[in-house]
Amino acid sequence: MIGKDLQVAKSLLEKGELVAIPTETVYGLAANAYNEKAVSEIYRVKNRPSFDPLIVHIGRWEQVNEFVREIPAPAQKLATLFMPGPLTLLLPKNERLPDIVTAGSPQVAVRIPNHLLTQELLHLLDFPLAAPSANPFGYISPTTAQHVADQLEERVPYILDGGPCIIGIESTILGFEDGIPTVYRKGGLTIEMIEAEIGPVALKPYSTSHPQAPGMLQSHYAPRIPLKTGIVRELLPGFDPNRTGLLVFRHLVPGVPAAHQVVLSENGDFAEAARNLFAGMRYLDGLDLEIILAEPVPEMGLGRAINDRLKRAAAQEG
Ligand code: TXA
Ligand code: MG
Repeated sequence: MIGKDLQVAKSLLEKGELVAIPTETVYGLAANAYNEKAVSEIYRVKNRPSFDPLIVHIGRWEQVNEFVREIPAPAQKLATLFMPGPLTLLLPKNERLPDIVTAGSPQVAVRIPNHLLTQELLHLLDFPLAAPSANPFGYISPTTAQHVADQLEERVPYILDGGPCIIGIESTILGFEDGIPTVYRKGGLTIEMIEAEIGPVALKPYSTSHPQAPGMLQSHYAPRIPLKTGIVRELLPGFDPNRTGLLVFRHLVPGVPAAHQVVLSENGDFAEAARNLFAGMRYLDGLDLEIILAEPVPEMGLGRAINDRLKRAAAQEG
């Protein structure tokens, strides 16, 4: 069921049930992070491999001390500046948090979502919420309550509707490897903004999640029909234009039906493009087409996270 009732969401979560929650990035599939059984239900419903850890969501930063052992100075600085917001920090966990949340890793991913309804919900609860994106494993992340319902309605007792996600692309994940700040996933907070505060950061190419299994989860955020990235004008001659969908940055491409094309931002605005990205992929995936051709956007600011998602959606693996 889709609804806006915080009390319903609260009582389900307190009973160890799952609730889909809105955030500014994408919708999450939440459970009490301290309840092992509830957390295992997340993996089951999403069909998520047990080695892929979950992000822990809190309402205010001080709560991190319940389950984190220490906070490096640059992490503290970033938290002060960018939380709530599209930033997730990897920090050493303590024993309060069940190992299933971090898939056995000694590090926990933490973030404070910047969404009013979910903030209110977190303040009503006396536990943090473990939540991955609310999509079946490997598929495109949901940016509306309806997206969640389209795939998980039968499997999730309640979907809290907070409207469309205003950022539309997942959080940036930053951790520390031998003390070096390292971006594990490009996302809604740009690398430029992070580097302006703490200096240069290292980038993990395609490190999605599991340090022991680098690259394994490369195919992610993927539509059902194949997606290919490149310069659309160059790729197009190889395909039937009536059976091809286009995901383009600013301008419609002549020769392909307009209804098969998604323009991410006519004005070339990265924030607007990010907001439209996953809904655009879903729309094209829902048409009766053979392939989606997606053109990378300029590799700067939020454009880097957008290109990352396009690349992963194109990865034909697993
Ligand atoms: O914006 C977001 O981050 C959204 C909203 C719902 O908060 N969440 C999200 O969760 O994107 P998910 O599970 O779809 O992606 C989280 C990523 C995964 O690639 C996971 O492997 C990684 O974070 N991750 C989580 N905990 C980790 C940990 N302890 N160490 C390394 N990677 C971790
Ligand atoms: Mg996800």
